[in-house]
Amino acid sequence: MKPIAIASDHGGFRMKEIVKSMLEKSNISYKDYGTTSEESCDYPDYGAPAAMAVSEGESERAILFCGSGSGMAIVANKFLGVRAVNCYDEWSTLMSRRHNDANIMAIGERCSIEPDDILRLVNLWLKTSFDGGRHTYRISKITELERLRRSTIERLRETNSFTPSDSVQYYTPSSDRK
Ligand code: RB5
Repeated sequence: MKPIAIASDHGGFRMKEIVKSMLEKSNISYKDYGTTSEESCDYPDYGAPAAMAVSEGESERAILFCGSGSGMAIVANKFLGVRAVNCYDEWSTLMSRRHNDANIMAIGERCSIEPDDILRLVNLWLKTSFDGGRHTYRISKITELERLRRSTIERLRETNSFTPSDSVQYYTPSSDRK
């Protein structure tokens, strides 16, 4: 089993260390991408390498921590193939796996959730499987959006200019709509 990628900023550092101890006790391997203390830092510096590990297949899953969980989720979702979800209770945790096949869990240490409850959510997230079925089709639509993004970038690189493909629906401000 590939190691779970783990990362935090200062706002999620304590919870990262607590979750690491739990993973060690459960014999679950992980790779810690930092940070290493509660000294103030910027969450993208640590969230990005951990999310990239998932995007590039070095890890199947990652657990990211910051004050709210939101910054880490935003950073992680910039990477192709990443589905990062902010999990804050049993329902959001379950749905992130069952319906969205989330491969990154983002946790907010300052979100008024007790550490023991966060540990429960992490365990729940790790053991919950994707439901598949109709959700597979929906996930494949997300993958298709990523494919379009990748081909747009490639086109830009090749031609040094951006010509939208015919399939692009142009945004029209509502005042201009007939
Ligand atoms: C740090 O103060 C805080 O902004 C950060 O941990 C996180 O909550 C950002 O989304």
